[in-house]
Amino acid sequence: TMAEKGGYRHFMLKEIYEQPRALADTIAGRALVEEGDVYLEDLDLDDAQLAGLEKIFIIACGTSWHAGLVGKFYLEKIARVPVEIDIASEFRYRDPIIPANSLTILVSQSGETADTLAALREAHGKGGKTLCICNVVDSSIARESDGIIYTHAGPEIGVASTKAFTTQLVALYLLALKLGRIRRSLSAADCQARLADLLELPRKLEETLELDAEIEELAREFVNARDFLYLGRGNLYPIALEGALKLKEISYIHAEGYPAGEMKHGPIALIDEDLPVVVLVPRNSTYDKVVSNMEEVCARGGQVIAVVSGDDEELLDKVAALISVPTVDEDLLPIITSVPMQLLAYYIAVLKGTDVDQPRNLAKSVTVE
Ligand code: G6P
Repeated sequence: TMAEKGGYRHFMLKEIYEQPRALADTIAGRALVEEGDVYLEDLDLDDAQLAGLEKIFIIACGTSWHAGLVGKFYLEKIARVPVEIDIASEFRYRDPIIPANSLTILVSQSGETADTLAALREAHGKGGKTLCICNVVDSSIARESDGIIYTHAGPEIGVASTKAFTTQLVALYLLALKLGRIRRSLSAADCQARLADLLELPRKLEETLELDAEIEELAREFVNARDFLYLGRGNLYPIALEGALKLKEISYIHAEGYPAGEMKHGPIALIDEDLPVVVLVPRNSTYDKVVSNMEEVCARGGQVIAVVSGDDEELLDKVAALISVPTVDEDLLPIITSVPMQLLAYYIAVLKGTDVDQPRNLAKSVTVE
């Protein structure tokens, strides 16, 4: 009913709008700003064990795997631990080599995904320590993992994951900060500054949601496209994958996410006037590189929808559409740019008249192999 959906037309839209609150709840009590430190209540590893970690595995499926891809960036950049990431159904059958001083992180909204649960058991069977990032209290994965970081997104009903994803990113960020402090790759002052930025994020997300009407308009322009390409680099490459996945899941339009720098090795052959290309090009350390990738798309007639920070007027006359998100630290860009990805997929699906909350052939949680 409308009441269960809080007056929104779909659970997905309600959940998109719940993100500022979900993020704030996931950060609450964990950001120790004054100390420049992070408190995580149930890691089940002491500081000496955390300091001695030689390797981290991140294992997940679907949208949670995309969160893990961003997590790799966070953990390697901030905590300087090598991270190997894999899809659960691959990891479980490849006889992975799990060294003694390693930690296997399972990322799962439901905590019930069969392949992720099997991957957890594989890690345990090889003597590895495990930690899950999970949204459902007391789920199978939460019960069997050694440590837990709960995302406090609240129940997610829409099959296409939204608020669970952005809270997973926050949980992985907090873990990277915590590890960075313990391993001394992050100073207290830097941690303090990062936490202050993180605490501002719910408000910035609120601001990002004001793009709603503009993106609904944009959806009308592109609803008849047969394919979409999404491009990003670095920590935004996973967001390109996630943008494409969201579109596929609920609008049934074929979409592909690609690292922008790899486009020349294949997808560039697809570009013509009929192909919308979503380019994640906010101000960050690879900005110039992505702008030149974007120009290659424009030169071939591709219809660029650029996601930029602030009002990036330089790009205005080059592209078909500009979506402007608030300026944030580059490590928080994956979280903020997720919102326009969600809204674009949502409004295209609504225009197509699909069953947005229960798309065909998909399940909220895949509990069989
Ligand atoms: C299904 C859902 C996805 C989800 C994936 C992993 O495919 O439709 O939205 O990302 O499972 O689920 P999990 O609960 O483990 O995060």
